[in-house]
Amino acid sequence: MFNIDNIRAQFPILSREINGKPLAYLDNAASAQKPQAVIDAIAGQMSTSFANVHRGLHTMANETTEAFEDARAKVASFLGAPKPDNIVFTKGATEALNLAAHGLAGEIKAGDEIIISQMEHHSNIVPWHFLRERYGAVLKFIPVTEQGELDLAAYKAMLGPKTKIVSIVHMSNVLGTVNPVKEMGEWAHAAGAIFVVDGTQAAVHMPIDVVDIDADLFCMTGHKLYGPTGIGALYGKTEMLERMQPFNGGGEMIEDVFEDRVTYNDPPHKFEAGTPPIIQAIGLGAAIDWYTQFDPADVHQHEMAVYYHALDGLRSINSFRLIGDAKEKGSVLAFNLEGAHAHDVAQILDKYGIAVRAGQHCTQPLMTKLGIHSTARASFGIYNTLDEADRLIEGVKKAATFLS
Ligand code: ALA
Repeated sequence: MFNIDNIRAQFPILSREINGKPLAYLDNAASAQKPQAVIDAIAGQMSTSFANVHRGLHTMANETTEAFEDARAKVASFLGAPKPDNIVFTKGATEALNLAAHGLAGEIKAGDEIIISQMEHHSNIVPWHFLRERYGAVLKFIPVTEQGELDLAAYKAMLGPKTKIVSIVHMSNVLGTVNPVKEMGEWAHAAGAIFVVDGTQAAVHMPIDVVDIDADLFCMTGHKLYGPTGIGALYGKTEMLERMQPFNGGGEMIEDVFEDRVTYNDPPHKFEAGTPPIIQAIGLGAAIDWYTQFDPADVHQHEMAVYYHALDGLRSINSFRLIGDAKEKGSVLAFNLEGAHAHDVAQILDKYGIAVRAGQHCTQPLMTKLGIHSTARASFGIYNTLDEADRLIEGVKKAATFLS
């Protein structure tokens, strides 16, 4: 099944040129490209059957509702959720994390503690800062070691009767570190805390089983999983979704509305006010269908082969510094060239048709901890090749020479 040429042929965008060179798209942690199957599913739904969902009695309303709910079932099965109703559609992982924080805000009193880590993306920091600013929550950050791993002894020592929520990234978007979320969740639960997992990057690189992890809430996004933008999901245990307050108010999320009160629909609809991202959800369902045709072990092995090939070559460059060398990591390769700005490195690579990200990657506390301003970052996906890794190495060598 895992034939790289065949996989690449399914992504029309991969045949384009950038600055006269074949595109080497190595920015998958920011957003992945879309296979024809996803493009066709989106265009096909809009071309043949479209209406609003859950509202109509006409044929296309029913067809579209069925396709939309079918996509929910696909997300549930992809994450190992017990049932489709455990899945709330959101705009992306950021909105899922904001929903988690707002949904739990009613349980927070001044002095209650929320544990996150220094390697979190801003989307798993700022929503919890809202609870600090508005309700007096105390934020605690698990330190990151030199190697780019979480200091688990420090985490254990932080847990206590005041800990109300622990929210941790499964796989870092900068360091590539894969955190031991199952173990971390056990400790959080033993302290009586709610355990939230930001699975944005992990969901693309390893099989996810939210029941095995025992996450109370788990967030993912569609556009990094070869699906469209504007769609993501919050998985929640049934009792957790029942316990959480709704975030957006409007149509469909209610049961009854009176002048003096309102009652809410059951989850997940309680959290999906207004017309949802119908086409995007159907596109995500198509992306999951497409992606799950592959054995996750094959995908992981392929991506890590490209990662290590690139890393081996880059290590021969004197000024090269790898950022993040955890024992357990995915195919994210953040680096700096000593004496050069990451933005300059990325711009030089672009001249050779190589797309990487450079900057702080929405992880300012991590950059502060590591004592750096920014990094360049190559992130490998299912369609990347050893040849592209070679082109990255050559491009970075040229950048090192030019910028030294
Ligand atoms: N969070 C995305 C990244 O790491 C956008 O690039």
